[in-house]
Amino acid sequence: MRAIRFHQHGDAGTMRLDHVEQPTPGFGQVLVKVAGTSFNPVDATIRAGHLRQVFPVALPHTPGIDVAGTVTAVGEGVTGLHVGAQVIGFLPMTADGAAAEYVLASGEVLAAAPTTIPLADAAALPATGLTAWQALFEHADVQPGQRILINGAGGAVGGYAVQLAVQAGATVVATAGERNAERVRGYGAQVIGRDIGGLAGPFDTVLNFAPVAPADMVTLAGLVRDGGALVTTTTPGPQDDPRGVRSISVFVHPDAGRLAALVELVDADKLHIHVAGHVTLDELPAVHARSDAGTLSGKTVITV
Ligand SMILES: NC(=O)c1ccc[n+]([C@@H]2O[C@H](COP(=O)([O-])OP(=O)(O)OC[C@H]3O[C@@H](n4cnc5c(N)ncnc54)[C@H](OP(=O)(O)O)[C@@H]3O)[C@@H](O)[C@H]2O)c1
Repeated sequence: MRAIRFHQHGDAGTMRLDHVEQPTPGFGQVLVKVAGTSFNPVDATIRAGHLRQVFPVALPHTPGIDVAGTVTAVGEGVTGLHVGAQVIGFLPMTADGAAAEYVLASGEVLAAAPTTIPLADAAALPATGLTAWQALFEHADVQPGQRILINGAGGAVGGYAVQLAVQAGATVVATAGERNAERVRGYGAQVIGRDIGGLAGPFDTVLNFAPVAPADMVTLAGLVRDGGALVTTTTPGPQDDPRGVRSISVFVHPDAGRLAALVELVDADKLHIHVAGHVTLDELPAVHARSDAGTLSGKTVITV
């Protein structure tokens, strides 16, 4: 089968299209024929080798932590999945991923795919949708009536977070660049551009989903009410705030049950999946290069 792999850590030039043996599912696993995967910023971090202690991948490595596809073989010990089932999942970050024609997945991380959107596009949901939900409700405990700030709402995680927070009854103020502002406003947020300098707090919770400098995290912490929370997926927030502001770093974890709930929202037209662009498998190295250059915007789906 065809798979994109990098044989050493380095720039996007280390990636190439290889022909590799199709894997066979072991106990608890299924084989998924990939319809789509999606690019996540962490893919470039892993490829570059910046976080080898956190993500110790064996080389050569196939990236792609999101999968949408069709089950073609079922290993022993798997229940609730059958050949032909259309599924999506958030795959372990250190296993070979879905930038390939087939990928192995534990049956435990998969959920039925949405039925109302193209299967490949559903690969835009798992990692970022789960991150948004976990940030809002496992870490921040966002409640109806609260006023929250979402920094980086123009991105994939931010877009889902705005929609989920508005549905939960929160009042959402959001930062987003010009190209994303109108869409984020359509999700129900008050959008203030990208500049956090002139913002007036306090907010019950501030969520940061943008790759910002540590100084910006200090500014964001200052916008949180006494005893509130600053939740971030990127740069850590300041610790030991005398006002009791808790700084929480998110580390997304798989949750097939929650993913199924997000799929229900998609099919009920209550959670919009925004795909900024589609590429084919052989174009994935170019997507990594654009990410490294800072010119990639929004969620890219890789169709296989
Ligand atoms: N820790 C975890 O478990 C976890 C999980 C998922 C993601 N992440 C991280 O969370 C971040 C967001 O992920 P994503 O998938 O949503 O990425 P993404 O789609 O690339 O979105 C990031 C967005 O941040 C905005 N942005 C960029 N630089 C900014 C700045 N200096 N100030 C304000 N906004 C800025 C951009 O939107 P505009 O152009 O609209 O400004 C961009 O679209 C990434 O860094 C990712 O690695 C971490």
